[in-house]
Amino acid sequence: MPLVTSKELLIKAQKEGYAVGAFNANNLEYVQAIVQAAEEEKAPVILQASQGAIKYAGLEQVVSMVKAAAEAVSVPVVLHLDHGTDFLQNVRCLRAGFTSLMFDGSALPFEENVAITRKIVEIAHAVNIPVEAELGKVPQAGEISFEELKALMTHPDEALRFVEATGVDSLAVSVGSIHRMQVQEAKLDIERIQKIRELVGIPLVLHGASGVTDDGYREGIKAGICKINVATELNKAFTRGLKEAMAEFPDEVDPRKFLTRAREEMKKVIRAKMRLFGCSGKAKSFSPGVPGSRGEEGATLKDFEKE
Ligand code: G3H
Ligand code: ZN
Repeated sequence: MPLVTSKELLIKAQKEGYAVGAFNANNLEYVQAIVQAAEEEKAPVILQASQGAIKYAGLEQVVSMVKAAAEAVSVPVVLHLDHGTDFLQNVRCLRAGFTSLMFDGSALPFEENVAITRKIVEIAHAVNIPVEAELGKVPQAGEISFEELKALMTHPDEALRFVEATGVDSLAVSVGSIHRMQVQEAKLDIERIQKIRELVGIPLVLHGASGVTDDGYREGIKAGICKINVATELNKAFTRGLKEAMAEFPDEVDPRKFLTRAREEMKKVIRAKMRLFGCSGKAKSFSPGVPGSRGEEGATLKDFEKE
Protein backbone atom coordinates (compact mmCIF):
# COMPACT_ATOMS: atom_id res chain seq x y z
CA MET A 1 0.00 0.00 0.00
CA PRO A 2 1.16 3.61 -0.37
CA LEU A 3 3.19 5.05 2.50
CA VAL A 4 1.13 6.07 5.54
CA THR A 5 1.91 8.62 8.26
CA SER A 6 3.10 7.66 11.74
CA LYS A 7 0.18 9.50 13.37
CA GLU A 8 -2.47 6.86 12.92
CA LEU A 9 -0.07 3.98 13.64
CA LEU A 10 1.07 5.43 16.96
CA ILE A 11 -2.40 6.42 18.15
CA LYS A 12 -3.61 2.89 17.45
CA ALA A 13 -0.57 1.44 19.26
CA GLN A 14 -1.25 3.70 22.25
CA LYS A 15 -4.91 2.64 22.42
CA GLU A 16 -4.11 -1.05 22.13
CA GLY A 17 -1.01 -1.11 24.36
CA TYR A 18 1.85 -2.09 22.07
CA ALA A 19 4.75 -0.29 20.36
CA VAL A 20 5.49 0.07 16.66
CA GLY A 21 9.08 -0.86 15.76
CA ALA A 22 11.07 1.90 14.07
CA PHE A 23 14.08 0.51 12.25
CA ASN A 24 16.94 2.49 10.70
CA ALA A 25 17.80 1.71 7.08
CA ASN A 26 21.07 2.53 5.33
CA ASN A 27 20.80 0.78 1.96
CA LEU A 28 18.62 -1.40 -0.25
CA GLU A 29 19.13 -4.58 1.77
CA TYR A 30 18.06 -2.84 4.99
CA VAL A 31 14.91 -1.55 3.29
CA GLN A 32 14.11 -5.03 1.99
CA ALA A 33 14.77 -6.70 5.36
CA ILE A 34 12.57 -4.22 7.26
CA VAL A 35 9.64 -4.29 4.85
CA GLN A 36 9.76 -8.07 4.30
CA ALA A 37 9.92 -8.69 8.06
CA ALA A 38 6.86 -6.46 8.52
CA GLU A 39 4.97 -8.31 5.80
CA GLU A 40 5.83 -11.70 7.28
CA GLU A 41 4.87 -10.59 10.80
CA LYS A 42 1.76 -8.74 9.55
CA ALA A 43 3.09 -5.77 11.49
CA PRO A 44 2.85 -2.03 10.86
CA VAL A 45 6.35 -0.63 10.57
CA ILE A 46 8.27 2.64 10.66
CA LEU A 47 11.29 2.68 8.41
CA GLN A 48 13.53 5.56 9.34
CA ALA A 49 16.49 7.29 7.74
CA SER A 50 18.97 9.31 9.75
CA GLN A 51 20.76 12.34 8.29
CA GLY A 52 23.83 10.09 7.92
CA ALA A 53 21.85 7.50 5.98
CA ILE A 54 20.40 10.21 3.72
CA LYS A 55 23.90 11.52 3.05
CA TYR A 56 25.09 7.97 2.30
CA ALA A 57 22.22 6.83 0.06
CA GLY A 58 20.85 10.11 -1.35
CA LEU A 59 17.52 11.72 -0.39
CA GLU A 60 15.58 10.95 -3.57
CA GLN A 61 16.99 7.42 -3.72
CA VAL A 62 15.85 6.72 -0.15
CA VAL A 63 12.32 7.94 -0.92
CA SER A 64 12.08 5.97 -4.18
CA MET A 65 13.37 2.74 -2.62
CA VAL A 66 11.05 2.92 0.38
CA LYS A 67 7.99 3.93 -1.64
CA ALA A 68 8.50 1.03 -4.05
CA ALA A 69 9.06 -1.44 -1.21
CA ALA A 70 5.96 -0.22 0.69
CA GLU A 71 3.73 -0.37 -2.36
CA ALA A 72 4.65 -4.01 -2.92
CA VAL A 73 3.35 -5.16 0.49
CA SER A 74 0.00 -5.20 2.29
CA VAL A 75 1.15 -3.81 5.66
CA PRO A 76 1.37 -0.09 6.49
CA VAL A 77 4.85 1.40 6.12
CA VAL A 78 5.95 4.87 7.29
CA LEU A 79 9.02 6.72 6.01
CA HIS A 80 10.34 8.75 8.96
CA LEU A 81 13.22 11.20 9.32
CA ASP A 82 15.28 10.17 12.35
CA HIS A 83 17.10 12.88 14.34
CA GLY A 84 16.74 15.73 11.87
CA THR A 85 18.83 18.33 13.63
CA ASP A 86 17.83 21.36 11.62
CA PHE A 87 14.84 23.08 10.07
CA LEU A 88 16.04 22.72 6.47
CA GLN A 89 16.62 18.99 6.72
CA ASN A 90 13.00 18.61 7.83
CA VAL A 91 11.73 20.79 4.97
CA ARG A 92 13.73 18.84 2.40
CA CYS A 93 12.39 15.52 3.68
CA LEU A 94 8.83 16.85 3.75
CA ARG A 95 9.13 17.95 0.14
CA ALA A 96 10.77 14.68 -0.91
CA GLY A 97 7.85 12.58 0.38
CA PHE A 98 8.67 11.50 3.95
CA THR A 99 5.47 10.70 5.84
CA SER A 100 6.81 11.48 9.31
CA LEU A 101 9.43 13.94 10.57
CA MET A 102 11.64 14.40 13.60
CA PHE A 103 13.25 17.54 14.84
CA ASP A 104 15.92 16.77 17.42
CA GLY A 105 16.59 19.99 19.30
CA SER A 106 17.82 18.16 22.39
CA ALA A 107 21.18 19.92 22.21
CA LEU A 108 19.49 23.34 22.26
CA PRO A 109 18.21 25.44 25.15
CA PHE A 110 14.52 24.73 25.92
CA GLU A 111 13.11 27.87 24.29
CA GLU A 112 15.10 27.42 21.09
CA ASN A 113 14.03 23.77 20.87
CA VAL A 114 10.39 24.91 21.29
CA ALA A 115 10.69 27.63 18.64
CA ILE A 116 12.15 25.43 15.88
CA THR A 117 9.93 22.46 16.71
CA ARG A 118 6.85 24.69 16.54
CA LYS A 119 7.89 26.07 13.16
CA ILE A 120 8.34 22.56 11.73
CA VAL A 121 5.05 21.37 13.23
CA GLU A 122 3.28 24.28 11.57
CA ILE A 123 4.51 23.52 8.06
CA ALA A 124 4.26 19.73 8.41
CA HIS A 125 0.72 19.83 9.76
CA ALA A 126 -0.33 21.97 6.81
CA VAL A 127 0.03 18.79 4.74
CA ASN A 128 -0.99 16.30 7.47
CA ILE A 129 2.51 15.07 8.25
CA PRO A 130 3.22 14.39 11.94
CA VAL A 131 6.34 15.47 13.81
CA GLU A 132 8.35 13.82 16.60
CA ALA A 133 10.56 15.98 18.83
CA GLU A 134 13.09 15.22 21.57
CA LEU A 135 13.23 16.69 25.03
CA GLY A 136 15.95 15.78 27.47
CA LYS A 137 18.80 14.02 25.70
CA VAL A 138 19.38 10.35 24.86
CA PRO A 139 23.20 10.31 24.89
CA GLN A 140 25.63 8.31 22.77
CA ALA A 141 27.43 5.31 24.30
CA GLY A 142 30.78 6.06 25.87
CA GLU A 143 31.93 6.91 29.31
CA ILE A 144 28.84 8.31 30.98
CA SER A 145 28.17 8.07 34.69
CA PHE A 146 24.73 7.39 36.14
CA GLU A 147 24.63 10.96 37.50
CA GLU A 148 25.40 12.40 34.05
CA LEU A 149 22.73 10.21 32.46
CA LYS A 150 20.20 11.26 35.08
CA ALA A 151 20.93 14.92 34.44
CA LEU A 152 20.01 14.43 30.76
CA MET A 153 16.67 12.75 31.47
CA THR A 154 13.34 14.34 30.48
CA HIS A 155 11.57 16.30 33.23
CA PRO A 156 7.84 15.50 33.22
CA ASP A 157 6.76 19.11 33.88
CA GLU A 158 8.99 20.44 31.12
CA ALA A 159 7.61 17.77 28.78
CA LEU A 160 4.10 19.08 29.41
CA ARG A 161 5.14 22.68 28.72
CA PHE A 162 7.00 21.56 25.60
CA VAL A 163 4.12 19.57 24.14
CA GLU A 164 1.62 22.33 24.81
CA ALA A 165 3.89 24.96 23.27
CA THR A 166 4.80 23.00 20.13
CA GLY A 167 1.76 20.87 19.21
CA VAL A 168 4.14 18.01 18.44
CA ASP A 169 2.63 14.57 17.69
CA SER A 170 5.03 12.28 19.57
CA LEU A 171 7.87 12.85 22.00
CA ALA A 172 11.26 11.14 22.27
CA VAL A 173 12.10 10.94 25.95
CA SER A 174 15.34 10.38 27.79
CA VAL A 175 14.51 7.74 30.37
CA GLY A 176 17.69 5.71 30.85
CA SER A 177 18.51 4.37 27.38
CA ILE A 178 21.73 5.28 25.56
CA HIS A 179 22.34 5.28 21.80
CA ARG A 180 24.61 2.68 20.19
CA MET A 181 24.95 0.26 23.09
CA GLN A 182 26.15 -3.15 21.95
CA VAL A 183 24.80 -5.06 24.97
CA GLN A 184 21.28 -5.04 26.44
CA GLU A 185 21.91 -3.61 29.87
CA ALA A 186 20.35 -0.14 30.05
CA LYS A 187 17.90 0.36 32.92
CA LEU A 188 14.76 2.36 32.14
CA ASP A 189 13.23 4.79 34.63
CA ILE A 190 9.70 3.37 34.36
CA GLU A 191 8.18 5.78 36.88
CA ARG A 192 9.43 8.71 34.82
CA ILE A 193 7.82 7.28 31.67
CA GLN A 194 4.51 6.84 33.52
CA LYS A 195 4.64 10.38 34.89
CA ILE A 196 5.36 11.89 31.46
CA ARG A 197 2.64 9.78 29.85
CA GLU A 198 0.06 10.91 32.43
CA LEU A 199 0.93 14.55 31.87
CA VAL A 200 1.39 14.79 28.10
CA GLY A 201 -0.97 12.17 26.65
CA ILE A 202 0.76 11.90 23.25
CA PRO A 203 2.69 8.74 22.17
CA LEU A 204 6.18 8.50 23.69
CA VAL A 205 9.23 7.28 21.77
CA LEU A 206 12.10 5.17 23.11
CA HIS A 207 15.45 5.83 21.42
CA GLY A 208 18.63 3.81 21.88
CA ALA A 209 16.60 0.62 22.15
CA SER A 210 19.43 -1.75 21.16
CA GLY A 211 20.73 -1.40 24.72
CA VAL A 212 17.39 -2.02 26.46
CA THR A 213 16.50 -5.41 27.98
CA ASP A 214 13.46 -7.41 26.84
CA ASP A 215 11.80 -6.72 30.21
CA GLY A 216 12.61 -3.05 29.72
CA TYR A 217 10.67 -3.07 26.45
CA ARG A 218 7.65 -4.72 28.10
CA GLU A 219 7.60 -2.40 31.10
CA GLY A 220 8.30 0.66 28.96
CA ILE A 221 5.37 -0.17 26.66
CA LYS A 222 3.06 -0.68 29.66
CA ALA A 223 4.14 2.72 30.97
CA GLY A 224 3.45 4.58 27.72
CA ILE A 225 6.10 3.91 25.05
CA CYS A 226 4.46 3.54 21.60
CA LYS A 227 7.44 3.69 19.20
CA ILE A 228 10.75 1.89 19.72
CA ASN A 229 13.84 2.84 17.68
CA VAL A 230 16.39 0.17 16.80
CA ALA A 231 19.55 0.75 14.75
CA THR A 232 22.69 -0.71 16.31
CA GLU A 233 21.27 -4.23 16.61
CA LEU A 234 20.47 -4.20 12.90
CA ASN A 235 23.99 -3.06 12.06
CA LYS A 236 25.41 -5.82 14.23
CA ALA A 237 23.25 -8.49 12.58
CA PHE A 238 24.05 -7.26 9.07
CA THR A 239 27.80 -7.18 9.72
CA ARG A 240 27.73 -10.58 11.42
CA GLY A 241 25.94 -12.07 8.41
CA LEU A 242 28.45 -10.54 6.01
CA LYS A 243 31.45 -11.76 7.98
CA GLU A 244 30.09 -15.29 8.39
CA ALA A 245 29.26 -15.64 4.70
CA MET A 246 32.64 -14.27 3.65
CA ALA A 247 34.39 -16.73 5.96
CA GLU A 248 32.28 -19.59 4.65
CA PHE A 249 32.79 -18.79 0.96
CA PRO A 250 36.28 -17.22 0.77
CA ASP A 251 36.53 -17.71 -3.01
CA GLU A 252 33.12 -16.23 -3.84
CA VAL A 253 33.25 -12.94 -5.76
CA ASP A 254 29.51 -12.28 -6.17
CA PRO A 255 28.63 -9.97 -3.27
CA ARG A 256 24.97 -10.99 -3.45
CA LYS A 257 25.94 -14.22 -1.71
CA PHE A 258 27.17 -12.23 1.30
CA LEU A 259 24.44 -9.58 1.17
CA THR A 260 21.69 -12.21 1.12
CA ARG A 261 23.01 -13.70 4.37
CA ALA A 262 23.37 -10.25 5.92
CA ARG A 263 19.78 -9.38 4.99
CA GLU A 264 18.48 -12.66 6.42
CA GLU A 265 20.33 -12.16 9.72
CA MET A 266 18.90 -8.67 10.03
CA LYS A 267 15.39 -9.85 9.21
CA LYS A 268 15.50 -12.39 12.04
CA VAL A 269 16.38 -9.64 14.52
CA ILE A 270 13.59 -7.37 13.24
CA ARG A 271 10.96 -10.14 13.44
CA ALA A 272 12.01 -10.98 17.01
CA LYS A 273 11.76 -7.31 18.01
CA MET A 274 8.31 -6.99 16.44
CA ARG A 275 7.07 -9.89 18.56
CA LEU A 276 8.58 -8.39 21.70
CA PHE A 277 7.07 -4.98 20.97
CA GLY A 278 3.62 -6.57 20.47
CA CYS A 279 3.11 -5.16 16.97
CA SER A 280 3.14 -8.51 15.16
CA GLY A 281 -0.29 -9.20 13.71
CA LYS A 282 -1.43 -5.61 14.28
CA ALA A 283 -1.48 -4.70 10.59
CA LYS A 284 -4.45 -7.00 10.11
CA SER A 285 -6.93 -4.57 11.62
CA PHE A 286 -5.38 -1.52 10.00
CA SER A 287 -7.53 0.30 7.48
CA PRO A 288 -5.79 2.95 5.42
CA GLY A 289 -7.86 6.06 5.21
CA VAL A 290 -8.73 6.46 8.89
CA PRO A 291 -8.57 10.16 9.86
CA GLY A 292 -5.00 11.38 9.91
CA SER A 293 -3.75 9.30 7.01
CA ARG A 294 -2.09 11.30 4.30
CA GLY A 295 -4.59 13.02 2.11
CA GLU A 296 -7.59 11.95 4.18
CA GLU A 297 -7.91 15.33 5.79
CA GLY A 298 -6.91 17.17 2.64
CA ALA A 299 -9.20 18.63 -0.01
CA THR A 300 -11.88 16.39 -1.45
CA LEU A 301 -13.85 16.82 -4.66
CA LYS A 302 -16.72 18.16 -2.55
CA ASP A 303 -14.55 21.06 -1.33
CA PHE A 304 -13.94 22.17 -4.90
CA GLU A 305 -17.58 21.78 -5.80
CA LYS A 306 -18.40 24.36 -3.12
CA GLU A 307 -16.34 27.05 -4.82
O1 G3H B 1 17.30 6.98 16.51
C1 G3H B 1 17.74 5.82 16.46
C2 G3H B 1 17.73 4.98 17.63
O2 G3H B 1 17.60 5.70 18.78
C3 G3H B 1 18.61 3.79 17.59
O3 G3H B 1 19.40 3.57 18.74
O4 G3H B 1 21.36 2.47 17.70
O5 G3H B 1 20.97 2.36 20.13
O6 G3H B 1 19.50 1.11 18.59
P1 G3H B 1 20.35 2.30 18.78
ZN1 ZN C 1 17.81 7.94 18.43
